[in-house]
Amino acid sequence: MKAIVQDRYGTADLSQFMDIDKPKIGDRDILVRVAAAGLDPGIWHLMTGRPYPVRMGFGLRRPKTPVLGADTAGHVEAVGRNVTRFAPGDEVFGVCKGSFAEYARTTSDKLVSKPPNLTFEQAAAVPTSAVTALRGLRDTGNIQSGQRVLIIGAAGGVGTFAVQIAKAYGAEVTGVCSTAKTDLVRALGADDVIDYLHQDFADGSRYDLVLDTAGHRSLSHLRRAITPRGRLVIVGSEVGGRLLGGTDRQLRAMLLSPFVGQKLGTLVAMANQEDLETVADLLATDAITPVIDRTYTLGRVPEAIRYLHDGHARGKVVITV
Ligand SMILES: NC(=O)c1ccc[n+]([C@@H]2O[C@H](COP(=O)([O-])OP(=O)(O)OC[C@H]3O[C@@H](n4cnc5c(N)ncnc54)[C@H](OP(=O)(O)O)[C@@H]3O)[C@@H](O)[C@H]2O)c1
Repeated sequence: MKAIVQDRYGTADLSQFMDIDKPKIGDRDILVRVAAAGLDPGIWHLMTGRPYPVRMGFGLRRPKTPVLGADTAGHVEAVGRNVTRFAPGDEVFGVCKGSFAEYARTTSDKLVSKPPNLTFEQAAAVPTSAVTALRGLRDTGNIQSGQRVLIIGAAGGVGTFAVQIAKAYGAEVTGVCSTAKTDLVRALGADDVIDYLHQDFADGSRYDLVLDTAGHRSLSHLRRAITPRGRLVIVGSEVGGRLLGGTDRQLRAMLLSPFVGQKLGTLVAMANQEDLETVADLLATDAITPVIDRTYTLGRVPEAIRYLHDGHARGKVVITV
């Protein structure tokens, strides 16, 4: 099968589009014929092995899984003997090992049925970003109906889902984005939009909940936008060095939180079946809709990674296989 393979850490130029063997499946595994694969900034971290703590989980000297890609939509090709939830031919989406390939392996707990109203490209855009938005708002953020919620990075991969999910929870939502994307964020349902190129979100109202996906503002700056007993959820940042990447603000937020009135938190969102089901229900009822910026063919994955890493995608970037 064709796949994007990168067997050492480094830039996207090191990845090769080549023929390799199809993954073999065990009794509990599922083989998916990939129709589309989603991209998110985590792929860049796994590809480069940066920040360095990434290597503790994914291979110290070289990537344990040389085929990149995780978010997947496609058809079940084959199932192991112990798999009962899925059968060959089912249309599914979720997380696989190495989805930048024609076939990828996974297990039942990382897969759900694709809602019929979604294309494969739309479904592949969902798993990591939508589950992160859901868990950031619902679990770490404890979002409540009627709350004033600020989403920073509202036009990005996580942000476009977060605006819609916060609205589905009945919040009054303000999105922060650059000038060219204000119309998009309003169209997603935001009640108000702040253009960060012209206005500082911390200069105006205070919010019950702030979700930061952009990572360009200091912890103290973010705290200025939150009510005295409000919550901050730091999703991530691409601004930072090789050692900590953008995670230093998350570490400081967790250390400071017990000593202040505001709750300052973060999360590591791994897509699981229960959260994917919740997101699939929201998609099936059109409460949320994926926003796709660009699609690239499998052979153009390096180009897609470079585009996303520039940090200004309009929603999601998807690979068609
Ligand atoms: N904790 C977790 O489990 C988890 C899971 C998924 C992702 N993440 C992390 O979360 C972050 C966001 O992911 P993503 O997929 O949403 O990335 P993305 O699609 O690249 O979105 C980044 C957003 O940042 C905005 N931005 C860039 N410069 C800005 C600035 N100076 N001020 C304000 N906003 C600015 C961009 O808006 P404009 O285009 O309008 O400039 C864009 O919407 C990444 O660091 C990622 O690694 C964490």
